Amino acid sequence: MRDLKDTLKSQSLLLPEVEPLTSWSCKRALEEEEAPVMDGSGGQTTSSKDDGLEAKEVGAFQESDSGGPPGDVNRAEPSPQSLQQFVPTDYASYTQEHYCFAGRQIVMQESIESFGAVVWPAAMALCQYLEEHTEELKLRDAKILEIGAGPGLVSIVASILGARVTATDLPDVLGNLQYNLARNTRAGAAHAPEVRELVWGDQLERQLPRAAFYYDYVLASDVVYHHHALDTLLATMAHLAQPGTVLLWANKFRFSTDYEFLDRFRQVFHTTLLAEHPESTVKLFKGVRK
Ligand SMILES: C[S@@+](CC[C@H](N)C(=O)[O-])C[C@H]1O[C@@H](n2cnc3c(N)ncnc32)[C@H](O)[C@@H]1O
Repeated sequence: MRDLKDTLKSQSLLLPEVEPLTSWSCKRALEEEEAPVMDGSGGQTTSSKDDGLEAKEVGAFQESDSGGPPGDVNRAEPSPQSLQQFVPTDYASYTQEHYCFAGRQIVMQESIESFGAVVWPAAMALCQYLEEHTEELKLRDAKILEIGAGPGLVSIVASILGARVTATDLPDVLGNLQYNLARNTRAGAAHAPEVRELVWGDQLERQLPRAAFYYDYVLASDVVYHHHALDTLLATMAHLAQPGTVLLWANKFRFSTDYEFLDRFRQVFHTTLLAEHPESTVKLFKGVRK
C-alpha cells in the first residue's frame, strides 16, 4: 500500500494543495470532535462504528427524502438503482479525514486503496467555489449531478448548501460514497442526496434520458488524469449538458493530455475560467454546451 501512495505522490496525483477555508465554527467543531481511534492494524478507524450509522442504515435514508416539488421529472419515480442499497466498500484500511466547508465540519472515510476513495485537490477548489458563490449560483434547491464523485466531498458540500444532489461513480466506490454522504448530510441538508452508478459513456440515453433528467449543474472534479476513458467522459459531459445546464469542472493540470482534453472540452462547451490556483495548478472552468 505504501507503494501505491508513493506512486501517487510522485506523480503529483495525491497532493491536496488547495487549503480549505477553516471558519471559527469549524475550528471549534474540530476541537470538540473526539479523536479517531486507530486499531493498530494499518489505519482502520473505529470511530465510523461509533457514529451510530450502521451500514444497513445508509441506504434507507433515500426512501424518506421528501424534497422536491410534486411532478418534478427528476423526482417522479425513483429508479430501482437510486433505491439500491450499496454494500459498504470493503477496503482493508481506512482513514478519517476532516474538512471544513460551508461552516461545517465534514468527516470523510477515505482509503488509499482506490483513486475513488480519496479526496483530490480539485474537489477542495470546487467546494471552496461553491461555498463562496452559493447565492450567485442559486444553489438552494438546484438540481445537481456529480460525475466521478469518488468519496463524495463535492456532493456533500453541495447538499449542505441546499442543492438536490445525485452523486455518481463506478460501482466499486459507491458503498464508501454513500456512507460519506449519509453520514455528513443526515442533519442539516434540505434534500437527502442520492447515489447512483454512472459509468461514463455507458448507455447514457437509457440510464439518464435527456427528456427525463435535467440538471441545473453538472459537477466534476479531478476526473481528467491518466486514464483511457477521456472520450467517454467528454461524451458524458456533453450528454448531461442541456440548454441551461452549467458544467463546473475543476481539475489539477498535471499532464499534456490534460491540456489536450481541455482543448477538446472547449470545442464542445463555451468555456470560462472561473478560478485558478497557480500553486497547485488547479483550474476551475464553467462550461455551457455550444
Ligand atoms: C481522481 S478521482 C476524483 C474523485 C473526486 N471527484 C475528487 O475530486 O475527490 C476520479 C473519479 O472518477 C471515477 N471514474 C474513473 N473512471 C470512470 C468511468 N469510466 N466512469 C465513471 N467514473 C469513473 C473514479 O472512480 C474516481 O472516483
